[in-house]
Amino acid sequence: MPIQLLVNIDHIATLRNARGEGYPVPAQAAQICEKAGAAGIVFHLRGDRRHIMDHDLTELKESVQGVLDFEMAATEEMIELLHQVHPDICTLVPEGREELTTEGGLHLAAVFEDFKTRVFPAIRNGTGGSKVEISLFVDPNLDDIQGAIELGSDAIELHTGTYANASTPSAAQAELSRLTTAAKMAHAAGLKVNAGHGLNQKNLAPFLHAVPHLADISIGHALISEAVFHGLANTVQAYMTIIGQVKEGPR
Ligand code: PXP
Repeated sequence: MPIQLLVNIDHIATLRNARGEGYPVPAQAAQICEKAGAAGIVFHLRGDRRHIMDHDLTELKESVQGVLDFEMAATEEMIELLHQVHPDICTLVPEGREELTTEGGLHLAAVFEDFKTRVFPAIRNGTGGSKVEISLFVDPNLDDIQGAIELGSDAIELHTGTYANASTPSAAQAELSRLTTAAKMAHAAGLKVNAGHGLNQKNLAPFLHAVPHLADISIGHALISEAVFHGLANTVQAYMTIIGQVKEGPR
């Protein structure tokens, strides 16, 4: 299986919500990403609805043609919404009210019993026969990989944030080595290995070269931020054209 890019479109919604307007529309961004070659789309519906909102779910479900990855905390509310959306992947993440973004992976020892007895059965029994891939967002700790294996998870998503934020090349290298060991262990047990957080055009290639068995790579904040600069000059010119036409046209 080739490595696939899944684009996280949460921050299209952040931009929309900053002004309380109806634009930019996350589902429209999703269509552009897919048309450009992305294999699918990720969204994180947070309990506080700070970016993606409930009405986005229907629009994303209708517009996304490829892989749809619903990232969520393992709450009753989210599991119910998951069953309405029927995504391809359900990525379970820890969620803190005060955090600016997901700050790390799940500590599986702390949630193991709850995931085993409540969360996994609720996700699997409610999918009405259409199988959703359960992916657990974890740091590259061997205990957490072992926990994911014992839970019977379909996949893990390796948290790449520590690698991305490493302050020295040797710290980055050490984290790549942890990510490699974790990826090998998960793969050997038959789990799919996804990854994401903090990846950008500088740190992505070294990561892909170093870590084996990667499947879906989820990238959001850097990609959306870079896209603004990529499109800024064209957009300024479009406005200049309008201004030029108005000035030169008949009064
Ligand atoms: N994967 C998970 C589980 C995340 O929580 C996030 C951030 O929402 C991402 C990937 C994407 O991270 P980034 O926005 O830094 O690319």
